[in-house]
Order: sequence, then structure tokens, then C-alpha cells
Amino acid sequence: ASLNLPYYERVPLTHYINVDWVKELVHFPVSTDDLFIATYLKSGTTWTQQIVSLIQTGGEDSSEHVFNNVPWFEMLGKDAVMALPKPKAMKTHLSYHMMPGRDPAATPAKYIYVARNPKDVAVSFYFHCLRYKCYKFTGSWNTFFELYMKGEVDFGLWSDHVLEWWRHKDADNILFLKYEDMKRDLTSAVQSIADFMGSDLNESIIQKISRKCSFENMKLNPLANPDDLLEVKVKIKNDASSGFLRKGDIGDWRNYFSSEQSVRVDDEFVKKVAESGLEFDYD
Ligand code: A3P
Repeated sequence: ASLNLPYYERVPLTHYINVDWVKELVHFPVSTDDLFIATYLKSGTTWTQQIVSLIQTGGEDSSEHVFNNVPWFEMLGKDAVMALPKPKAMKTHLSYHMMPGRDPAATPAKYIYVARNPKDVAVSFYFHCLRYKCYKFTGSWNTFFELYMKGEVDFGLWSDHVLEWWRHKDADNILFLKYEDMKRDLTSAVQSIADFMGSDLNESIIQKISRKCSFENMKLNPLANPDDLLEVKVKIKNDASSGFLRKGDIGDWRNYFSSEQSVRVDDEFVKKVAESGLEFDYD
């Protein structure tokens, strides 16, 4: 089984990506005003996009879809990125070493990295691959699990991606967040993102943004929920039962993982990142 992904320098990229642009973008100039939300897939990207978007508008609803307000950097291509209004806010799934401005001393864009525990990511990723026609994936959970453990999924091994960014977490221009912390205390997460963006919104606006970014409210908001937009853009399988905002929980992995699979993720991912001081909640 394979997900039919394009590769660059042994890293699997994603369908529809502009590989030529990815090759040259390490040298692309970024500025201090530019903000990137960086994630491994299925780690809370859209959630963070919506938070950033609402911070930019001071809590007011936008008339644009969140995917247009905070577009996907490596998908866009150079001209479109250049044409974005300032301050630019974009999402990316690229590894740290592929990013422009990754040397903070040279070109200090700002980066919000969001990491999620590798077990919930795996389950969310499995449904993601079932959902989009481009993967041509019809396999079982067990089949997907093996691809995930080998890093034969978009943007490679979870542990490589997360660790590369984690090693730079103390840089002034990087804010490292965890999905599980956002889930437990969204208001604090919104506050720290606002602080990081240099915004001085008052407490009631921070709370308003948090309410708008709850799982339930985002699911109901067509401009914060990618379902309709993606249906047009990337062809969702008609029989896909769960939406983009699927469960939004911590611990759904328990409904899919065998105990052997759990031990393998512990051995190959969890222990590896814990050695670098990175730990997650799993329930
Ligand atoms: P599940 O599939 O576990 O439900 P990404 O945007 O990086 O692709 O991540 C998608 C995951 O984030 C999905 O996880 C989705 O439900 C979850 N998510 C999106 N918005 C959320 C929110 N407001 N609160 C909690 N989880 C959210």
C-alpha cells in the first residue's frame, strides 16, 4: 500500500503541492512581520489558523474562509505568497530545515508550532486519508498504521518533524504549543498566541475568541470548517462519514489501537521525543 505522494529529498510531501516552489523556498526572503503556523498534519492546524485569524480581526468574524485568511504557504507558490496582504499569516507543514528564515539570526519570521500526541494524530490521519480521493487509500487501520510508522505519509515521520521544531522551541521567534494544552485551557492558549503576535486584546475579547474556537462552534461555522471548501477543491469521497472537524478529542486512539500498536508508538516515537524533554497527554 502507498499513499501515492510526491517526494523531495526523501521526504514525502503532499498531493497538489508545488514541488518546484518547495525546492527553492529555503532561500525565499521572509520578514519579521510574517507569521507561520507550522504543524505536522492533523495536529490542530485549522484550529490555530482560526485563532490567529480572529486575533487579527480583534475577535470579529471574517467574511472569508479561514483557509483563505491564513493560506497554505508551500501550496501557494512564490507569486501568490508575494501578493499576500501584510502582515502575512500562513500555515505550513514543512520541516524546520525546509523553511525560509529558519535561522532566527538571519530572517526572523515568527513561527507558532503546534504538536499533538502521535497516537491521536495517527487516528486523525487515517480518517484524513480515507476521506480524500487523492490518496487512493481504501486500506484498513492496520494498513495505515504501518505506513505511519514508516513515515510513508505526508511530511514523513511524526517524530522527525516534531523534534526538529522542538529543538528550536526556545528561540524568541518560535512559540511551541501542544494540542492537548489548547484543549484543556483554550483561553490561555489564545492569550499566549495573542501575546506572541504582539496583540494587546483585552480579556473579554480573548474569551470571545476562545468561544468562537471551540470545537462545536467551529464545526457549525462554515467559514471555520473546511468541509464545504475542500469538497470543491480536493474531492472528498462521498462515503466519508466523518467531517474535517471529526472528534476533536484527546484519547480517541484507544478506540483503534491494539496494545501492540500502542507499545510500538511508545518505543519508536514517545520515548524518543521524551528523551528531548517533550511529553504529551494521551487521555
Ligand atoms: P480529529 O480528527 O481527531 O477530530 P489539522 O487541522 O491539523 O488537520 O487537524 C485536524 C484535527 O484537529 C481534527 O482532529 C479536528 O477535529 C481537530 N480540530 C479542529 N478544530 C478543533 C477545535 N476547535 N477543537 C479541537 N480540535 C479541533
